Amino acid sequence: MIKVVATIVELKEELGYYRNNGKSIGFVPTMGALHQGHISLVERCRAENDVTVVSIFVNPTQFNDKNDLKNYPRMPEKDVALLEQAGANIVFVPDEKEIYPEPDTRVFDFGMLDKVMEGKFRPGHFNGVAQVVSKLFDIVNPHRAYFGLKDYQQLAIIRAMVKMLGYGVEVIGCPIVRETDGLAMSSRNLLLSAEHRKSAPLIYRTLSEARNKKGEFSVKELIAWVESRINSDPNLRVEYFELADADTLEPVESWEHQNGIVGCIAVWAGNIRLIDNTMFKE
Ligand code: PAF
Repeated sequence: MIKVVATIVELKEELGYYRNNGKSIGFVPTMGALHQGHISLVERCRAENDVTVVSIFVNPTQFNDKNDLKNYPRMPEKDVALLEQAGANIVFVPDEKEIYPEPDTRVFDFGMLDKVMEGKFRPGHFNGVAQVVSKLFDIVNPHRAYFGLKDYQQLAIIRAMVKMLGYGVEVIGCPIVRETDGLAMSSRNLLLSAEHRKSAPLIYRTLSEARNKKGEFSVKELIAWVESRINSDPNLRVEYFELADADTLEPVESWEHQNGIVGCIAVWAGNIRLIDNTMFKE
């Protein structure tokens, strides 16, 4: 039976019991509105740890857009039922006061990592992510924590934060889970109109086709090709498409780049913003 806890005191008490018995603790932080992508994290966590803790908290400090925060889907009962079915042991559902008894004024500097792509178009977003994930790590103190690769840049920031703050947690990135038409699973997909939902698979279709065009186009030409192909659908508007170093996320200039290359994209489908990515060079 899954245990639902809302306070830090109760969660620590619960986890203390496991920790004192030498059990490994795995952690999956989420903002709820769970889908198969989240469930894949829970499954991996269960396979690698004795105890699986999932948090559901829509973190206000990472929303740079008030409407996005207001409209973010919330369905706690359904989420808990899904987590129970997936075999999670504990779900932590704090309210805002529990996580932020007073405003979090910490400012993180991740150098270039939080200046590009999402960092550029969503100012303050990654600072909010670092605030909440560090607080959750302090509370849960897990051995391992699981994040989806759909938020590629978020994962890079969290790895940098773990290093910066000296956490002993192992951060594990898990593959993107897609709908059968290729659209990356996201809680925001629920907010798409039927028309925009129909257009959205063009994003990943284009990324996949672009991967095969490396021989034909320069980096710059490929970026333009991706943008114009997606923008040709009147329901979609590319905010950015970047080909970036897989570790530093700095834009790459040529296919001869020494390190891996990741292609990251953000697209507006009506007033819903979708992100996706794929590797262009391992
Ligand atoms: O990826 C998310 O759902 C959120 O950014 C996270 C990591 C749970 C922090 O609020």
